[in-house]
Amino acid sequence: MKNVTKLFLSAILGLMALGFQAKAEDFPAEIKPLMQKYTCFACHKVDARLVGPAYQDVAKKKYSVDKIVSLIAKPQPANWPGYPPMAPMTNVPKEDAVKIAKWINSLR
Ligand code: HEC
Repeated sequence: MKNVTKLFLSAILGLMALGFQAKAEDFPAEIKPLMQKYTCFACHKVDARLVGPAYQDVAKKKYSVDKIVSLIAKPQPANWPGYPPMAPMTNVPKEDAVKIAKWINSLR
């Protein structure tokens, strides 16, 4: 494992231990199971910065649904200076990613 990966993981574990982990209850009922299944909620909240940006702040970027779907599979850390890079979530099937993306865009 690369050192930087180790650092990143220990930072996340530290945050979780401190109780900063978002609660699944923060998400609407139709989105919650997806957030749990793909662990997005470990790093994202709806309305506040966690490890990653608040989904409301992602919504402000006015991405298209397709763009969000591609960013989930292939994040562009340069879009979020000051945040650690998000790991590519290639395990999310396109139809679930589309649901998540539409919901994110509904937040703006
Ligand atoms: C290990 C923590 C972590 C997990 C798990 C995670 N993210 Fe992220 N996410 C981040 C961080 C950090 C950023 C900001 C840096 C970046 O984009 O690489 C981010 C950025 C994003 C962005 C904005 C991309 C952009 O370029 O503007 C979206 C959309 C997003 N995440 C969606 C998701 C979804 C959906 C899931 C679950 C399938 C998920 N994330 C899981 C940490 C995480």
